[in-house]
Amino acid sequence: MQSSQPSQACTDLISSLPSDKACQKHFQAHNFDIILVTSPKFGTTWLKAILFALLNHAKYSDPNSERCHPLQTRNPHDLVPYLEFQLYLQQEDPDHTTFASPRFLATHLPYSSLPQSTGDSNCKLVYLCRNPKDNFISLWHFTKKMMLKENGNQTPLPECLDKFCQGLSMYGPHWDHVLGYHKMSLEMPEKVLFMKYEEMKEDPCVHVRRLADFVGCPFSEEELRGGTLEGILRMCSFDNLSTLEVNKSGSRWTRVENKSFFRRGEVGDWVNYMSAEMGEKIDGVMEEKLHDSGLKF
Ligand code: A3P
Repeated sequence: MQSSQPSQACTDLISSLPSDKACQKHFQAHNFDIILVTSPKFGTTWLKAILFALLNHAKYSDPNSERCHPLQTRNPHDLVPYLEFQLYLQQEDPDHTTFASPRFLATHLPYSSLPQSTGDSNCKLVYLCRNPKDNFISLWHFTKKMMLKENGNQTPLPECLDKFCQGLSMYGPHWDHVLGYHKMSLEMPEKVLFMKYEEMKEDPCVHVRRLADFVGCPFSEEELRGGTLEGILRMCSFDNLSTLEVNKSGSRWTRVENKSFFRRGEVGDWVNYMSAEMGEKIDGVMEEKLHDSGLKF
C-alpha cells in the first residue's frame, strides 16, 4: 500500500518481525486462554471490545457500583494486547503473571505461524474475518491516514488493488488467512470459532450469544431478560465507542491515533470507492481461491 520510499510505519513493521519469532519461541498458551485472531481491518477493535465486555460482565454488572467500565476510558487495543506487538515486540519473554484469568489476547498471525503451544493446549481461538472488498477499502483508508501523518505518498488505489489480488498483504493473502482458520474451525469446532463481520452486523444478538457460549460464559435466562446482551452491544457499538473521549483524542503505543480504528463500520462501503470492475477483480480471485472450501463472502 505504500510508495517505494520506506516509511516510518514500514520501518516499524520490519523491526517488529523478530517479535513473531520471540512469541513463537516463548509464548506458552494456557488451557483457559482466549485468543482473538483477525487480519488487520477485519473488525478487531469491535470484537476485542465485545469479548472483553463478555468476559468481564460479572465484574461490572452491579448497577449500584460506581466502578466505571474500562471500555469507557480505554481503547480496546489497550485492554487486549496483541501477542506479536504489545507483548513480544517490547520484550523477548514478557511477564504474564499479571494477567487476569482467563487470559484474553489477540493476534494477526496466520494459523500456520501460531506459536506451537496454542495447538498443544486447550486454549480457544475466536476468528473474525471480513468481506475482502470492504477489508481492502478499510486497509486503504487506514494506510492513507498513516501515510499522511508521516508525509508519505499513498500508492494509487488500482495499484494497491493489484497487490491485494496478488496476495501481497501484511499477514499474507486474505484468502490464505481465512482458509487456514476456516479449515481448523471445521476440524476442531470446540477449539476454533469462525465468525464473519457481516454476520455480526446483521444479527449481533445471535452471534454474541454463540460467542458467549463458545468462550464458556453463556448468558443466564435472567441476564437475557434483563437486557445484559443488548447492553454489551450498545456499549461496544460503533456509535458509542467512536464518540468516547479516549477514542476521539487518545493515541496508542504505536503512535497510531485511537480514532483511526473507527471510520464507518458499514458493510458494503467498498462501492463508494471502487468500480464494479474492480470489485469483480477481487471476486474473481476469491472464487478461484475459495472454491473448494464452501466459504463465500
Ligand atoms: P471501516 O474502515 O470499513 O469503517 P480493525 O479493528 O480490525 O482495525 O478494523 C477496523 C474496521 O472496523 C473499520 O472499518 C472500523 O470502522 C470498524 N469498526 C471499528 N469499531 C467498530 C464497531 N464498534 N462496530 C463495527 N465496526 C467497527
